[in-house]
Amino acid sequence: MKRLNLPPLNKCSVAVIGLGYVGLPLAIAIANQKRCILSNKKIQRNVIGFDLDISRIIELKKGFDRNKISSKNTKKHLKNIKFTNDKKLLKKVDVFIITVPTPIDKKNNPNSSFIKEASKLVGESIRSSEQNKLNKIIIYESTVYPGLTEEICVPIIEQNSGLIYNNPKNERTFFCGYSPERINPGDSNHTINTIIKVTSGCNKYVASWIDEFYGSFIKAGTYKVSSIKVAEAAKIIENIQRDINIALVNELSMLFKKIEIDTQEVLEAANTKWNFHKYRPGLVGGHCIGVDPYYLTFKAQEIGFETKLISAGRSINNYMYEYLFQEIVNLLNKQNEDANDIKILLLGITYKSNCSDMRNSQLVLLAEKIKKRDLEITIVDPKVDRKKALEEMSLEILLKIPKNKKFSIIIFGLFHEEFNHLSYDVLKKSTKKNAVIIDLTNKIIGENVIHL
Ligand SMILES: NC(=O)c1ccc[n+]([C@@H]2O[C@H](COP(=O)([O-])OP(=O)(O)OC[C@H]3O[C@@H](n4cnc5c(N)ncnc54)[C@H](O)[C@@H]3O)[C@@H](O)[C@H]2O)c1
Repeated sequence: MKRLNLPPLNKCSVAVIGLGYVGLPLAIAIANQKRCILSNKKIQRNVIGFDLDISRIIELKKGFDRNKISSKNTKKHLKNIKFTNDKKLLKKVDVFIITVPTPIDKKNNPNSSFIKEASKLVGESIRSSEQNKLNKIIIYESTVYPGLTEEICVPIIEQNSGLIYNNPKNERTFFCGYSPERINPGDSNHTINTIIKVTSGCNKYVASWIDEFYGSFIKAGTYKVSSIKVAEAAKIIENIQRDINIALVNELSMLFKKIEIDTQEVLEAANTKWNFHKYRPGLVGGHCIGVDPYYLTFKAQEIGFETKLISAGRSINNYMYEYLFQEIVNLLNKQNEDANDIKILLLGITYKSNCSDMRNSQLVLLAEKIKKRDLEITIVDPKVDRKKALEEMSLEILLKIPKNKKFSIIIFGLFHEEFNHLSYDVLKKSTKKNAVIIDLTNKIIGENVIHL
């Protein structure tokens, strides 16, 4: 390993590029590990947290995380990271970890602009630090299709650095790796420290370096694979598997509704078999499950392979908010209330419970559809940035259920911790006589409560 002039494991300087849901917890974990988990040796790493969003940097410098994902000790933990948007500070960095967004565009094709931009930034930074004898390691954590790191990002780094990727002569070179992130925002049981980290590198020495690097601070341990492509593929199929399984139960629930069978009861019964996998119907949103399959289908298309099942799963799950809207219209028709008197309450609008993120939320699409029909909708979500929601999405969001209103339909969308007290009896106090509660959380049982 030494002959590759790799950075010293316990004394390297690390920059995390992109301080969002993935990057910030990662930077915190690296910066606050004082002894290597594997060797118990002392760790002295400089950690730079880099983001192009200056407002994010200002907030983090003040100890504030708008994503509210870090623990109570946020302020203390953030102190060990140098937050910056100054590119010059990246010149002395040995290890870059890229955690920028990899969304899709309006046509559901990968939008690689952020990851390309970050690769350019790294390329420029390592060009200007050529005098440093250590070879740089660039680890990608953003979710991508198998091949994207080495086919798209590496050439950009080469072009902007003037260096040769993974040069066997070990001259004028840099190395890459891929280690997917599997955190689950809003889920305190599955955090960076409790999830095994899959690691990979462009050659066996770099792969071992990267594996040991993560092993030094990830308490759950690591799992090294043989290539970057394998690690990229492993991440993407984790989410595809989930997407397809949810699509299956969503399809079943729409069918069972038509033949008047209770889907929940069917699932409970089927689940008594040892090898039945229990998935619940629901809305799929966010930047992972609803996005990652498109990365793989894009790659498949590129090589002329048709992904029938993955694409079918996507179209079923994409349709669910429209299906729900139609269900609401059917219920309202039955209630036969004057359109001006109809009042709908939506509890939770982010893409999942206990998360502040509204991007790619099907509940947002549902709320917009209801508003377009000129129906009165009250949205309650204590997790979201309400100012941003109003400015960017024209959605007025309240902290609590207003006491002076009685609702025709309550859509219990998410089970945020602040909604723990919302039992059937509590919700009933806010409903009209024949009101219906559509419970997407599967927590409420009672008269006129329906589930997907
Ligand atoms: N959010 C999740 O639950 C989750 C879980 C696993 C994997 N991922 C993947 O991790 C990646 C990051 O996701 P996220 O949710 O943390 O995104 P995010 O939108 O929360 O944060 C990304 C950050 O990167 C910054 N950024 C964008 N371009 C940049 C650049 N060129 N240089 C520096 N900073 C830049 C943005 O300002 C933002 O602060 C994505 O590929 C995503 O698919 C996300």
